[in-house]
Amino acid sequence: MKHTISLKVNGESYEIDVQSETVLLDLIREKLDLTGTKDGCRSGECGACTVMMNGVPVNSCMVLAVEADGSEITTIEGLSKGEELHPIQKSFIEKGAVQCGYCTPGMILSAKALLDRNNDPTSEEVKKAIRGNICRCTGYQKIEEAIMDAASTMRGDEK
Ligand code: FES
Ligand code: FES
Repeated sequence: MKHTISLKVNGESYEIDVQSETVLLDLIREKLDLTGTKDGCRSGECGACTVMMNGVPVNSCMVLAVEADGSEITTIEGLSKGEELHPIQKSFIEKGAVQCGYCTPGMILSAKALLDRNNDPTSEEVKKAIRGNICRCTGYQKIEEAIMDAASTMRGDEK
């Protein structure tokens, strides 16, 4: 069955026809062509498809597009301002937290959701925020360092 939904993605409003079974991940990647959101396990296990929905990180493979009706979505494409990367993106690059990069967009969105509500997290809070995001490459240490570094930048700490 077809439904027409309205939502905002990265600040832009859309009205889109979707099927009852369409998941948010496919809406984002296929209908909006925002392929920064990665398609991994499609079963809620890996976190590669993480986006923010009304400020909360969600696995977009587990959210029906109709459930996102009326919501505000942020994907990795919504973080930079033109050529200017978001501080979390910069820290991931500077701290060597990106290897194959498959987990990175989802990891960064989980980190952003954390830092938006808590700009001075403990390392335990960082670990908890990204526990749904699987990385096969980095061993997590550099990712945690990058998130702590971004938090420091976002607080305006002297470096
Ligand atoms: S693709 Fe959604 S959790 Fe793995
Ligand atoms: S950088 Fe490769 S899966 Fe995380």
